[in-house]
Amino acid sequence: MSLDVALLRETFNRAKEENGGTKALGMSFYKRLFEKYPSVRPLFNTPPEEQHKKLMASLGAIVAGVEQPERLLPYLHAMGIRHLKYKTENAHYDAVGENLMAVLAEHLSKEGEWTQSMADTWQAAIGVVAKTMIEAADNPEAFREELGKHGYESDGFKRNDPAPWIDRATVSI
Ligand code: HEM
Repeated sequence: MSLDVALLRETFNRAKEENGGTKALGMSFYKRLFEKYPSVRPLFNTPPEEQHKKLMASLGAIVAGVEQPERLLPYLHAMGIRHLKYKTENAHYDAVGENLMAVLAEHLSKEGEWTQSMADTWQAAIGVVAKTMIEAADNPEAFREELGKHGYESDGFKRNDPAPWIDRATVSI
């Protein structure tokens, strides 16, 4: 696995600045996802104009927290468990990962380079994120105590925070 943290951060910063930033990247993400994987379309009730902000905020939190597992792991476990409510299946993670890789490659290769090491780093990061979310979704009971310690309910939501995908400890995008 080749997770180069500096490269992950550098590329995410570029994604925020280039080609219309996270709005363009996020909108392309859902456009391509629904075209290529139409079966997941019915799971989404929030329009892409809103949904993309949540996805991009969570990518921001992941990139910011990648070296602090004590913070990132509960965040990802809670997110995996919340996805049970959205009727996400484990098999969907490959589709979402493939889609994110494709739109990132397109977004970043317009104004600059998208190299093999960038692709390897993002692939590794997405793999860890998916594995961590799925692990919790497969056995939410095992994470109940950890979630409680970090202010989440056992369903992964926060009673007093309508936006649990924003990691308040980091700067939001
Ligand atoms: C890379 C892993 C993923 C990340 C980082 C991610 C991120 C998010 C975030 C931040 C939200 C906002 C709500 C919340 O945080 O509870 C969300 C909602 C959602 N996600 Fe994901 N997600 C991932 C994987 C997936 C997969 C594999 C699917 C399956 C198709 C999926 C489908 C959904 C749906 C249906 C919603 C609710 C949309 C709505 O409100 O209508 N996500 N996701």
